[in-house]
Amino acid sequence: MTKSGSAVKVLFVTTELAPFSKVGGLGDVAGSLPKALRQAGVDVRVVTPAWPGVLERVAALGIKTTTVKTKVYAAYDWRIHSANVIKATVDGVTIYFLNSEDYSGSQYPSQLNFWSASPFAVFCMQALELKDAIDWEPDIYHCHDWTSAFLPCALAWHRHYRQTGGKSIMTLHNVAYQGILEPSPFLEASGLEPWSFNSSTMEFYGQVNLLKGGIVAATAVTTVSPTYANEIQTYESTRELSGILYQQRSKLRGIINGLDVKFWDPNGDKAIPAKFSAKDLKGKAACKKALLERAGFDPKSDAPVIVCVSRLVEQKGFDMVFNGAAQIAETGAKLLILGSGNDWIENGIIQASETYPQSIKLFKGYDEPLSHLMYAGGDIFLMPSVFEPCGLSQMISMRYGTVPVVREVGGLRDTVFDVDRPEGGNGFTFQTCDVDGMMWALRRAVDRYNNNKAQWKEIMLEGMHEDFTWDKSAGLYKNLYDELMQ
Ligand code: ADP
Ligand code: GLC
Repeated sequence: MTKSGSAVKVLFVTTELAPFSKVGGLGDVAGSLPKALRQAGVDVRVVTPAWPGVLERVAALGIKTTTVKTKVYAAYDWRIHSANVIKATVDGVTIYFLNSEDYSGSQYPSQLNFWSASPFAVFCMQALELKDAIDWEPDIYHCHDWTSAFLPCALAWHRHYRQTGGKSIMTLHNVAYQGILEPSPFLEASGLEPWSFNSSTMEFYGQVNLLKGGIVAATAVTTVSPTYANEIQTYESTRELSGILYQQRSKLRGIINGLDVKFWDPNGDKAIPAKFSAKDLKGKAACKKALLERAGFDPKSDAPVIVCVSRLVEQKGFDMVFNGAAQIAETGAKLLILGSGNDWIENGIIQASETYPQSIKLFKGYDEPLSHLMYAGGDIFLMPSVFEPCGLSQMISMRYGTVPVVREVGGLRDTVFDVDRPEGGNGFTFQTCDVDGMMWALRRAVDRYNNNKAQWKEIMLEGMHEDFTWDKSAGLYKNLYDELMQ
């Protein structure tokens, strides 16, 4: 609520948005949190770049669009960058897709330099200019990760925008990606005041660090779980950036992510061969059969099926998985992995699957429908992350009655509780970040599945009954917006 009693106006500024440009969980959050915020009474809208293929996806989904009469403009690198504003409404939330040549390249550049970073700075300035084109002025700009971290920097240090008094929130979905690049010619081109480049702002060991700038400049900072909010203030977790996060801790809070529980619902999911629910689990067996068939394994097998759906990057701990391949195969379980990412991880998994072809299968790539079948057809969901800001996959798997085995870190620690605690739980957890640690939890899960079907069902139901809606967290974001308006 603003002082005048009207709903707070919030513009989500995001470079990933499900179902149009999702890469990982950030896309899911940007696609689902605004709907929950609207229901909580926030006037929220979303702005996002029309990366290659995005408008085609919008059209393929049958979503109507209109082009806003006025374009948005941003002054950057001594010229004016303009973009068409394509408006759509999805589940009641207004989305503005910015369409221009600036967004014809890669959504996540493999190398960050002046050229590859420029679209992100332009996007943030166009987001600040949007108010004039749509005649709706946000009270708060809500930014996500380094890709929109230039916006709070601009509000604090840009020669034009620093006079405007806008408020911003920086949500940290993953502090491992910071947007680091050479200062020249970026700083000259950006319009930031030369005095703004120093060690207490965006300078970081001689480089520009966009995320650091965003953290320092934002009115408030949030991250996606309470545990990760604590972890990132330690050198062990975020190295040199931990000092800044510790220094800024009074404006930092951890708010756990929720899920779009309508989308991730085994009882309404069109991508799986049979529906099921906590009340009637029968369909899950048909999903398991279809998944085993798809993997080329015996569909009648009752061996536990361990599934992973993940970006294959260092964060996710897959070196433990391929280094533990022999032990995993020895348990008699089948391990199915869906994902793509770093070559060394893909190669490690390929090698493991070639060594144990009866036990391990990699589906390489990004495949949304297959991911649903994996969540539905699996028995165990393995997520041995080295670090995990929140993690959505473990929550999705629980919705589908697939019991998570996770490392106790970040948001995994806030959502998965070991069944062998005196008070019980919804999964199996471990702490030590190595093969032995992971196998300790995984063996307990496989053993419980094989030898105690009654308890296994209880664990499944515990997860299926968890509340993963956005309701509570949307309320916490709303409280934060209200606080900033006081
Ligand atoms: P992160 O954002 O770090 O990748 P999360 O667990 O928060 O991890 O979110 C991952 C999201 O991306 C989930 O919705 C998951 O199902 C999806 N996902 C990850 N890899 C794939 C893949 N290869 N194919 C389809 N969906 C994937
Ligand atoms: C990041 C994190 C993941 C989190 C997601 C959404 O990609 O790696 O843990 O769930 O963002 O906030």
